[in-house]
Amino acid sequence: MVKIALIGFGNVGKSFTRILVNRVTELNKLGLEPCVIGILASRGGLINDECIGSRALIDLTNKGLYSAPNFKTIELRDLINLKPDVAVVSIPPSYHTGEPNLTIYRLLISEGISVITADKTGLALAYGELINESRNKGVYLGFTATVMAGTPVIQLLKGLRGRIVKNIEGVLNATSNYVLTLVENGLTMSEAVKRAIEEKIAEPDPAIDLGGLDAAAKATILANVMGINASLRDVDVQSMLNLKDDYIKESARKGIRVKQVASVDLTRRLISVKPMEVPAGSVIGSITGNYNALIIRLNDGKEITIIGPTGPAEATAEVMFSDLLEYADSCLTMGKRIKG
Ligand SMILES: NC(=O)c1ccc[n+]([C@@H]2O[C@H](COP(=O)([O-])OP(=O)(O)OC[C@H]3O[C@@H](n4cnc5c(N)ncnc54)[C@H](OP(=O)(O)O)[C@@H]3O)[C@@H](O)[C@H]2O)c1
Repeated sequence: MVKIALIGFGNVGKSFTRILVNRVTELNKLGLEPCVIGILASRGGLINDECIGSRALIDLTNKGLYSAPNFKTIELRDLINLKPDVAVVSIPPSYHTGEPNLTIYRLLISEGISVITADKTGLALAYGELINESRNKGVYLGFTATVMAGTPVIQLLKGLRGRIVKNIEGVLNATSNYVLTLVENGLTMSEAVKRAIEEKIAEPDPAIDLGGLDAAAKATILANVMGINASLRDVDVQSMLNLKDDYIKESARKGIRVKQVASVDLTRRLISVKPMEVPAGSVIGSITGNYNALIIRLNDGKEITIIGPTGPAEATAEVMFSDLLEYADSCLTMGKRIKG
């Protein structure tokens, strides 16, 4: 049995729960039975050390946590006391402090609980510490969903370990594509930003998607995966909010697209997020909608290009489920016993 705690029960947490119920056979193939022992949101949650059943889990995803008859004002410590094997954390943290996630990750890891998360800021602020602590405690830290969500680019970069990569460059924030396309098609930047926020495509704080913080956090995680010990605070971030509408429109007329480009220069150990002009027909220039792209340049002049979908919540949760399978697989490989 694998004992699971769900921390955060919003779009991603609920999607993950549905996948867990619907794809249970994938875990069964590894000889494991999942057992959700608790769910926590901001005002409390549910615990049941005999496992919350599949039907109850689906009911909770449909009706929400707060109307459940057994809802209580529990805290993280109540979940930890039930000794889960793994916690699936999906809470949006502050881009400035990484909280409450950093405190939650540190506590879980110190208690020997593995963590799977889609939240990027905590890792972007304290990657080295979290990786080292998880290694010291022998727990799994799964964060494949933090960058390009629906496309497991982190696994690709891990597969390039030992190779010499000169730089990586790409579009890691899909909202920036959406807003820039709206401006190319006639809206002003402020109209486009307002629309993206109203349609819930952009975060309410424009500094996150369009100011470049989201892409900077993702680029920082990729840099760390590639062996650069960096923090979100080291990134050279230039906002696209100050771009002139006419400049974007005029560039588009000339076959040039302005894109929010994230780069990691592995030789000079520099990370940046900046608006850049790129040819409309290039890989980065042709990315639209909910897609991201990453070009990985190797030292022999060859390139690996990956284009794939990012969110929404369902795609993110799918990748977190893949992390859960990897966690279960690694436990079996190491002969580590999951609680029965
Ligand atoms: N949505 C996507 O497409 C997507 C894609 C990639 C990555 N992500 C990342 O996934 C994370 C979750 O996103 P989401 O869309 O699921 O967010 P969401 O819908 O806003 O849900 C957040 C959940 O976290 C809970 N929460 C907040 N503070 C908490 C605390 N201190 N303790 C326990 N629970 C707390 C909230 O509780 P209440 O229910 O009480 O509000 C809610 O259940 C974010 O970091 C986001 O960046 C999301």
